[in-house]
Amino acid sequence: MAGDSTPPVGSEVRRAFPRCACLETRPLKAGKAAEAVFVHQLVGVFGPFDAVEKITRKQNEIRISRQLLEHPEGRLTDALPRLLAMVEQEDRTHLFMEHISGVGERREPDRSVALTVVRALLRMSDDLGGLQVAPAPTIQARMVEALCGAPDEPGLAALRDAVPELCARYRALPQAICHDDVWWPNMAVRPEPKGLACRFIDFGRLSRNAVGADLQCFARMSLKDEGAGVMLEHLVHGFAAETGVPKRDIRFAGALHAAFRSLKRMQRLRKQGATREAEKERVTFANFVRAARDHASS
Ligand SMILES: Nc1ncnc2c1ncn2[C@@H]1O[C@H](COP(=O)(O)OP(=O)(O)O)[C@@H](O)[C@H]1O
Ligand SMILES: [Mg+2]
Repeated sequence: MAGDSTPPVGSEVRRAFPRCACLETRPLKAGKAAEAVFVHQLVGVFGPFDAVEKITRKQNEIRISRQLLEHPEGRLTDALPRLLAMVEQEDRTHLFMEHISGVGERREPDRSVALTVVRALLRMSDDLGGLQVAPAPTIQARMVEALCGAPDEPGLAALRDAVPELCARYRALPQAICHDDVWWPNMAVRPEPKGLACRFIDFGRLSRNAVGADLQCFARMSLKDEGAGVMLEHLVHGFAAETGVPKRDIRFAGALHAAFRSLKRMQRLRKQGATREAEKERVTFANFVRAARDHASS
């Protein structure tokens, strides 16, 4: 079947689906990492379907997509979109996946929404048990170094000295496969015939990590968004109820991982020469380390 619409510059839809007609293509708003995202309306021998094309350079995302695509149906878990095709180029890769409706729609932060999210994450972790995923990013040395480089601030030395022990405690927590970017733009919580269901996109940071590490985005967003704070509390309860891991360990994992992500951001800002933003980020980083220490000793 010949395609009807002209694909946009940079798209590889024709190479990925040579036997399908492409009726329409719409660009989607990419986040910080993707180079571009399109949604294509296609028609093949089995009828019409939508495919999202994401152009990425993230090696982890590419590695995971390859593994998903090896599976006969392009999926190992229904918590993630089905992988339909992949076009690998030298410097970038075009991923084609199932379109998930409702991505980015915020829900009222309540118990049942949070429990749905937690169950989807734990199911994803179980389903992907056989996948080769990256281990949890290491945080210890760099965290200490970043705190050392900071201007004097009351209590900072004690905080810095606590870091190695906090990291050891973190590594000893129960592990799961974490999505590591759990936030409304990367998920869809929707009513389905069997009840509320949650699915995730943007799995480029998927890694094995402490149970509760996935709370890091909500922990960060709760600094300025009340709804995120309410949701965070429900998520903590949900994780504890579903895994039996004590709430304080869940909170601790979320806070320490938020500190790590904050540190990564700070390093990037410093590299870009954005000194003031980097300094603000250092304060956030220190606050998350402080919060982690408080949870650990609660
Ligand atoms: N499979 C999908 N289904 C529906 N929308 C998607 C899908 N993949 C991406 N999108 C849309 O594109 C946006 C950016 O894609 P994402 O994978 O989150 O890229 P980034 O790594 O840049 O955040 C998402 O926030 C979402 O709106
Ligand atoms: Mg995203």
